[in-house]
Amino acid sequence: MSAIDWKSYTPILIPNIKDYHKIDVYEKHGGYGGLKKILKDQTEFTPEKVTNTVKDSGLRGRGGAGFNTGLKWSFMPKPDGGPRYIAANGDESEPGTFKDRVIFEYNPHSFIEGAIIGAYAMSITTVYVYIRGEYRSWINMMQKAVDDAYEKGYLGKNILGSEFSVDMVVHSGAGAYICGEESSLMESLEGKRGYPRVKPPFPAQKGLWGRPTTINNIETFANVPHIINNGSEWYKGIGASTHAGPLLYGISGHVNRPGVYEYPSGMLITDLIHGAAQGVRGGKKVKAVIPGGSSTPPLRGDSLEGVRMDSDSLREAGSMLGTGGMCILDEDTDMVDFLWRVSHFYHHESCGQCTPCREGTGWLEKTLLKIKRGDGTVRDLDLLLDLCSQMEGRTICALADAAAWPVRYTVTRFREDFEARVKKTVYALA
Ligand SMILES: Cc1cc2nc3c(=O)[nH]c(=O)nc-3n(C[C@H](O)[C@H](O)[C@H](O)COP(=O)(O)O)c2cc1C
Ligand code: SF4
Repeated sequence: MSAIDWKSYTPILIPNIKDYHKIDVYEKHGGYGGLKKILKDQTEFTPEKVTNTVKDSGLRGRGGAGFNTGLKWSFMPKPDGGPRYIAANGDESEPGTFKDRVIFEYNPHSFIEGAIIGAYAMSITTVYVYIRGEYRSWINMMQKAVDDAYEKGYLGKNILGSEFSVDMVVHSGAGAYICGEESSLMESLEGKRGYPRVKPPFPAQKGLWGRPTTINNIETFANVPHIINNGSEWYKGIGASTHAGPLLYGISGHVNRPGVYEYPSGMLITDLIHGAAQGVRGGKKVKAVIPGGSSTPPLRGDSLEGVRMDSDSLREAGSMLGTGGMCILDEDTDMVDFLWRVSHFYHHESCGQCTPCREGTGWLEKTLLKIKRGDGTVRDLDLLLDLCSQMEGRTICALADAAAWPVRYTVTRFREDFEARVKKTVYALA
């Protein structure tokens, strides 16, 4: 992939425009133009055509798994006259991830417009916007934006005088990480405890209240108006060829300027750290980078050369893009402490339905605490890896994998930190 001229990139998801969150300002800069374009010429912009345009653009979900968005939309069955839903996922609870929040704050209408276009493409009757419960201020901001969109006729009955109608409901999340998992989110929206469902059936077949449902991340929808306005070829031209478009990189940890930065996908990790985030605090070396939220395997600081923030490059490097929430750890970081803290989180957040996850997350945390306190042995390192093998791919949802991956790859990639903390001699039983 050729070098990205990131310094001259002009953001489109969080543009540098004063008061862009206000509907009048958004409209003044062409906002809701994509929706108007579609509704004005519905014989040209059929739901299938809109779905195919999004599919061809190469937009991949920004919620973590990176699935092609248009392809997901095409899985919805043909309308049968009954209700159909979008659940827009703004639960954003994965440690290190804080980018949907900036859309709620600085560009809510781009999300709303994208979700309405998605609703048109999939003949949706109601869009639920599920927002992390702790994001009280951002829930209020979104509600205001939704109210304004209703007032201007972009939501509700006969949108802009057309036959197309859709409602949007802002819903406060239940305060658990697991409620961001799509099937658990649907349980939660239905008013039940957030237990993930066994799949299949998939949400497109049997989603909210048993009806066809599509779940997409907030940032995913915010990209859609740009695709409709400028075409799929234009969008494909931004960033990495197999993971097109702009990304919101949430950079946290030991950097001089943490924050959310919008750049094309496929940025060099080193450019993001030393350029956008202005380097490591105190001029220290990078010990580790967690590229896409706490569940993604950490990379060693000495293996970052040439690694880019797109799914292919990160897979090759031994990690994943996830949510693009990067956490930078400096050379003084105690990886045992770090991993224990991460494991504590996943143990706390396991819903407890599956034995490998309920028991495994507890064992991971307990074993790491033992090592952290200086009571561990080299055998405990093998035990940790064995526990990961018992958890990965054996449960109802991916939380167990999310808990196992950081352990597997922190222990193997930073083994020296763990060996320094465990007793070398293991006494045989008499
Ligand atoms: C434990 C767990 C937590 C998740 N949390 C979120 C979340 O907070 N936000 C999100 O968009 N996706 C989250 N996901 C992924 C969703 O299940 C789903 O794949 C995503 O919302 C689909 O949107 P996308 O295709 O636009 O990425 C989570 C998945 C798991 C397994
Ligand atoms: S993997 Fe964990 S969080 Fe997911 S359903 Fe099973 S017990 Fe619950």
